[in-house]
Amino acid sequence: MKLTIIVLAAGMGTRMRSAMPKVLHLLAGKPLIRHVLDAIVPLGPEKTVLVLGHQADRVRSVVEGYDVEVVYQAEQRGTGHAVRQAVEAISSAPGPFMVLCGDTPLLASETLRSLADAHARSGAAVTVMTAMPDDPTGYGRIVRGRSGVLRIVEEKDATTAQKKIREVNTGIYCFEKKFLLSALGGIKNKNAQGEYYLPDTIALARKGKRNVAAVLCDDPDEAMGINSRIDLSQAERIMQERKNVRWMREGVTLIDPATVFISDEALIGRDTVLYPNVRLEGKTTLGEGCMVYSGSRVVDSACGNGVTIKDCCVIEDSRIADKASVGPFAHLRPGTVLGPGSRIGNFVEVKKSVIGEGSKANHLAYIGDATVGRDVNIGAGVITCNYDGFQKHQTIIEDGVFVGSDAQLVAPVRIGKDALVAAGATVTRDVPPEALAISRVPLDIREGVSGRRKRMKQKKG
Ligand code: UD1
Ligand code: CA
Repeated sequence: MKLTIIVLAAGMGTRMRSAMPKVLHLLAGKPLIRHVLDAIVPLGPEKTVLVLGHQADRVRSVVEGYDVEVVYQAEQRGTGHAVRQAVEAISSAPGPFMVLCGDTPLLASETLRSLADAHARSGAAVTVMTAMPDDPTGYGRIVRGRSGVLRIVEEKDATTAQKKIREVNTGIYCFEKKFLLSALGGIKNKNAQGEYYLPDTIALARKGKRNVAAVLCDDPDEAMGINSRIDLSQAERIMQERKNVRWMREGVTLIDPATVFISDEALIGRDTVLYPNVRLEGKTTLGEGCMVYSGSRVVDSACGNGVTIKDCCVIEDSRIADKASVGPFAHLRPGTVLGPGSRIGNFVEVKKSVIGEGSKANHLAYIGDATVGRDVNIGAGVITCNYDGFQKHQTIIEDGVFVGSDAQLVAPVRIGKDALVAAGATVTRDVPPEALAISRVPLDIREGVSGRRKRMKQKKG
């Protein structure tokens, strides 16, 4: 029978101490709620109902594109009360119903499937997924008797003895329809928080002499609920560790995996080496045999094979062809395209520009809104003056051009093939192919002046 899933995400997440609803906090660059919804998709549920409340519109906007029906819980009066708001939405579905929380982002689809399978096999009124974390603090505890699970006690309601129970409620359950509907009516709010607890359905099942089943989740990390920023940082580490292990298995070297961040959408080729403190964000791809040195951040960019990114570069929305080299301390801004074997060196900024095959800008340059041909040399301190205070203008540098150090190319301007721009030139007109462009104040050398000054200074002192 096809599952119907209810996801609870109406709470505000007080313990996050945030102006933003808890489920919108980012884990590995993605809102918590989307991690949960992504884990659900492979189960192919008949229907997914999402319970929203606190800042519902904001949460809604990040779940656009997911096949969910949203229901509202105007006042957050507990997890049991939250499920009650979904009753109408699920009324035509036959069940079983899986309930989970929007704050357990590490869950794997297979784990959810094994819960659904166990529930189908047991024929219980309710099957709860439990876990054995090293530290059970904060979770509801599973109280077992000789006949199995008796009830769940929340941390705030637990006795000292109950607090010692290590088996906890993951907040994930499967319910038989008839039982769920009747149990929701039976939950009371006589507890430390004055809330209607969904876990109380377990005791209600026992009271009604119905079977309760429990499935232990092997990996307690997976069931981790995010309640605070500390939980969030731990989840981030766990998630990153998993991903990093996967990439190492695929043939990528991570010199210090604990400090490397790789986004979900990133792709990395074999024999690529990532040094400590590297971040690959968004849809970034690295080909085979690339080297990314410490402190570099690559965002939404595509690199070919054998690319070298030296230390401390920021690379955004750029494309880098095979064997090109960037950095150290370079900034590639959106729209940068580097040709094969090209080199962008230290303290060079490139924006919305194409750099041709084998061309180099090795030191202290700004290249913006430019098209640079092949085998061009851009000297130290060269600047494309692309902005006149009103508009951006293009600079075109054709193949084989040599731009001497400290030249300013005042756009719009075109430097013809194989032309030579002398050091320090201010180029305000197009330069024809093979020409020399030089703009130089005549040099005046006055013999002996420096010597005289030095002697005067010594006399005074
Ligand atoms: C809950 C369980 C606890 C379990 C833990 C697992 C209850 C009473 N306790 O505790 O047994 O060990 O999860 O992580 O269920 N929510 C609503 N409406 C509400 C209250 C909560 O939609 O009125 C949503 C929240 O947005 C959240 C989820 O339900 O996504 C869980 O709520 P939370 O307050 O985090 O419950 P815990 O104290 O973690
Ligand atoms: Ca929680």
